[in-house]
Amino acid sequence: MAMNFYKEMIGGQKIPSIGLGTWMSTDETELETALNAAIEAGYRHIDTAIVYHNESLIGRILKGWFSSGKLRREDFFITTKLPIAGLHEDRVEMFIKKSLENLQLDYLDLYLIHFPVASNYVGLDVTPPDQFKVEPVDHHLVWKKMEEQVDAGRTRAIGLSNFNENQIRKLLKSCRIQPACLQIEVHLFMQQKELINYCHKNHILVIAYSPLGNPGYNKFLNVIGQKEKQLPSALDNPIVKRVADKYKKSPGQVLLRFLIEKDIIPIPKSVSPKRIRENIDVFDFTLDKEDIHKLENVDRGEESRICDFSFFPPLLESEHFPFLKQRV
Ligand SMILES: NC(=O)c1ccc[n+]([C@@H]2O[C@H](COP(=O)([O-])OP(=O)(O)OC[C@H]3O[C@@H](n4cnc5c(N)ncnc54)[C@H](OP(=O)(O)O)[C@@H]3O)[C@@H](O)[C@H]2O)c1
Repeated sequence: MAMNFYKEMIGGQKIPSIGLGTWMSTDETELETALNAAIEAGYRHIDTAIVYHNESLIGRILKGWFSSGKLRREDFFITTKLPIAGLHEDRVEMFIKKSLENLQLDYLDLYLIHFPVASNYVGLDVTPPDQFKVEPVDHHLVWKKMEEQVDAGRTRAIGLSNFNENQIRKLLKSCRIQPACLQIEVHLFMQQKELINYCHKNHILVIAYSPLGNPGYNKFLNVIGQKEKQLPSALDNPIVKRVADKYKKSPGQVLLRFLIEKDIIPIPKSVSPKRIRENIDVFDFTLDKEDIHKLENVDRGEESRICDFSFFPPLLESEHFPFLKQRV
């Protein structure tokens, strides 16, 4: 594989510098075609979550690759996540075991706490909105259980998603095993410089979700019956387009390369084999300093957050809600 393909996590484990996102990929034929195209194109890092409802399908497709003898379990880096109903010391083990069963794997490469807020537990599936209640959570106790999953060999590494700097700082004071990664929203319009600097200083790798600015987000809002949001298009941004023309690359490739240059691991989601191949074809060029600077100047900060979780208002009630509420 081409240059810069792997990064090293704090324990020495390797993580591919780009992954395939799978949120909203639940159609069986579509996901099967997408995942097979991704694996053929060289993706070895797959991001899922129990709440995406596609772990079992991903597990079945991976099993096909293992039994074909073409690839082995150790060739892949598989991430999944503890849902908010799992943020209780009595539920972490149950949820990771369920994800392992769904994925037909003996171990994960990375298990993330999906979101810092906890909810009540009514079953392994997503808690229906009419039964949903925010619950108190002690992140230290949950993290202790996450550490035990590493000890038990159920996951090689553990990490966080959607935690803010303050929440990470508190956890770093008491942890025995450090979070290896933080998965957060990062893209052209919300570059999260301070949080990323903090993570890098503390040897926490940053994984960028919505790295293309999620052009499919309004589709998701439609599915859950919510009003569409006005979102600027990173792919159509004139500066991105000019830089793309200069390097004879697509706008999507520039957006992804921009993150890779900053030691951030993007996990673009696509179900289109053509776009999947395009998105990984970003290891044969580098952006010069001037172009990086131009792209940095497009940052609009927190106001450009896309996935602000306001689609689920009870989350905002929690003292652990991680984002600035006045802007949500
Ligand atoms: N931890 C969390 O809370 C969290 C939250 C959000 C996302 N995530 C993870 O991060 C992954 C990626 O984020 P995301 O899905 O929000 O957004 P994204 O990857 O920025 O955008 C995905 C959208 O972009 C389209 N697309 C993909 N490649 C393209 C290209 N080269 N040109 C034009 N359009 C392209 C896709 O459409 P097609 O599929 O039709 O190609 C899809 O609609 C998710 O799938 C999930 O695994 C995690």
